[in-house]
Amino acid sequence: MEAVTAAWERYAAGRAPRRALNAAGDSTWLNWTQYPDHGPDESLLGPVKGRRVLELGCGTGCNLAHLATLGAECVGVDLSPTRTAKARDRWGDLPGLTFHTAEVTAFLAGRPRAFDVVVSIFGPVWFTDPTTLLPLVRESLTPGGTFAFSHKPPRPGQEPGAVLREARAVSRWDYTGAEWAVRLAAVGFTNITAEVIDPPEGKNGGTLLVRAGR
Ligand SMILES: C[S@@+](CC[C@H](N)C(=O)[O-])C[C@H]1O[C@@H](n2cnc3c(N)ncnc32)[C@H](O)[C@@H]1O
Repeated sequence: MEAVTAAWERYAAGRAPRRALNAAGDSTWLNWTQYPDHGPDESLLGPVKGRRVLELGCGTGCNLAHLATLGAECVGVDLSPTRTAKARDRWGDLPGLTFHTAEVTAFLAGRPRAFDVVVSIFGPVWFTDPTTLLPLVRESLTPGGTFAFSHKPPRPGQEPGAVLREARAVSRWDYTGAEWAVRLAAVGFTNITAEVIDPPEGKNGGTLLVRAGR
């Protein structure tokens, strides 16, 4: 795990902070895709006011901060100490928002029914063995809770379910929506939907968005 953390720390060092305002002039927003000012917003989670929301791989906390401004009780977990420190610096004054530096499977173990919503945006759902992670996520949700995550879809022609090794340490589970649906159903998730959000005009590559319920 030290090598994985080091890889994500290197990634953190190369990232610019999110802009202070988006194209609409908002100071917080939730972005499911890899493109700015693009894609659906948080409304696909349903009302979040008063709900306990966990983000897996929260990075610098910008998506979660938006949910906190809407009245959610938010918890972010990320294994990169650099990123959680930046999250606390930027958003630490917001009520209802806490950040933990931890690996997600370690964090989720022993937290049954602790959250109403679990999200992962280009986060550890893409980078963690789903046979370990998915049962933990389901267990951490309250009955009727929602799990939603996004990442890039597999490249056309890519071997189905390929596990890619990147940066020598980080693996990636590149599943299609149909492949995720099988795995989610196998551990008891219901109401599973998966869609590819088209990229903005002039860009290549959409975003896979998967939702499931407990
Ligand atoms: C591509 S970044 C996305 C960050 C954020 N969700 C966003 O949209 O800006 C992936 C994040 O997941 C974190 N991460 C990767 N694997 C993790 C794990 N097993 N446990 C906790 N965090 C992890 C990384 O440190 C990194 O901050």
